[in-house]
Amino acid sequence: MKPVKVGLLGLGTVGTGVVRIVEGNQEDLRSQVGSTISVEKIAVKNPEKARNVVVEQSKLTGDPWDVINDPEIDVIIEVMGGVEKTKEYLLEALENGKHIVTANKDLMALHGAEILAKAQEKQCDVFYEASVAGGIPIIRTLIEGFSSDRIIRIMGIVNGTTNYILTKMSQEGASYEEVLKEAQELGYAESDPTSDVEGLDAARKMAILATLGFRSNVELGDVSVKGISQISSEDIAFAKKLGYEMKLLGIAERNGDQFNISVQPTMVSQSHPLASVNGVFNAVYVHGEAVGETMFYGAGAGEMPTATSVVADLVAVVKNLKLGVNGLKAITPYKPKLLTSDEEVFSKNFILLHVDDKAGVLAQITQVFAEFGVSLASVVQQPNEHNPNAEIIIITHSASKASMQKVLNHFESLEVIRRIKSVYRVEG
Ligand code: NDP
Ligand code: HSE
Repeated sequence: MKPVKVGLLGLGTVGTGVVRIVEGNQEDLRSQVGSTISVEKIAVKNPEKARNVVVEQSKLTGDPWDVINDPEIDVIIEVMGGVEKTKEYLLEALENGKHIVTANKDLMALHGAEILAKAQEKQCDVFYEASVAGGIPIIRTLIEGFSSDRIIRIMGIVNGTTNYILTKMSQEGASYEEVLKEAQELGYAESDPTSDVEGLDAARKMAILATLGFRSNVELGDVSVKGISQISSEDIAFAKKLGYEMKLLGIAERNGDQFNISVQPTMVSQSHPLASVNGVFNAVYVHGEAVGETMFYGAGAGEMPTATSVVADLVAVVKNLKLGVNGLKAITPYKPKLLTSDEEVFSKNFILLHVDDKAGVLAQITQVFAEFGVSLASVVQQPNEHNPNAEIIIITHSASKASMQKVLNHFESLEVIRRIKSVYRVEG
């Protein structure tokens, strides 16, 4: 088979890893696909910038169209990020009959359906394994490995930056700002880390996983999102004391024909396998009706782990080229999307209240829970020499999101409650 020519859009953290793997593993790759793979052209923002990998200067261009419109290029690897302009590039590349590999979850969560439809029309491949959980092959697993099963639940730690921050805050008592800076220097964070810390990056990944797992077209707006920027060291210390670790957890649950997808800081029981997923590591727990519980673990971000998934997708494209089956394995969601109402979404909850330290306060608080049918698992009053108010820590039994919201709304107007300090979902 003739050599396969690749055009790269982006030579940052991931693009650098892609060049290293394609060049460093050339022999292995050729043995698997039966042809040479070479990176022929690379679009970057600034072609004059010093690079962390040796590339011929003549391959670099500042204009992505030079890559998209090059008739010699067979496969485009998109690792530059961005949404609207990048979508335009990729749709045109497909129009030109080029196959696509991308690590861009922002693009796939927002415009995946349109890009995949265009790919099918043009009989081209679009693979995006690296877009969720970096080096973990979870997308292929959901599409192929679980094609015979019905997924009930997907729970994931799918953002490396926030897991790195929470781990360092928990294990070393480090400050939020300090650790975020480290994660940026290590190439884990997005160019604007707001999408990491506010949960949007994880929400995009959960939309992609839920679409594949539930075979329904789940969109970003279907995911309820809360990030980690409000979590204090005090919250993390409380969690640990009670036997939990704080994690930013993505949860996609199926209840009959209905789905519910969320991303939120969650206190995960230390006995749950997800509690010991630390640092930049990601893990995705998948519960299928037939298979039962499974879990996938690995590096969720960073140059080489992410590039591993990208190049594995490239290998898949080239194998399909050899067989002449590109564009034939696209999965189109076929189930209707019905979202679960807040009355039907259940979880245990942790609530930390600052209250007046006087007789009858606890009775008023427990009365509100009783009124809205929320049963309590434990209530503890915690002395705090730095806080003149009493601190009440409550853990509920499983309660509906709607009932919990009613309780919290009621607390806002209860005079004895000085502050609803923190509320977290509890898992395990
Ligand atoms: P970087 O910011 O490190 O690199 C981006 C690259 O794209 C740079 O080489 C930059 O050029 C180039 N670029 C940006 N805008 C343009 C443009 N308009 N025209 C031409 N080139 C452009 O990003 P990452 O490598 O970290 O991420 C790339 C993609 O991979 C993103 O979609 C990200 O979400 C995804 N991803 C990243 C992971 C990670 O661990 N970093 C993990 C999984 C997915 P220049 O070098 O000149 O600035
Ligand atoms: N910023 C992302 C993360 C990169 O921290 O997980 C991997 O998608």
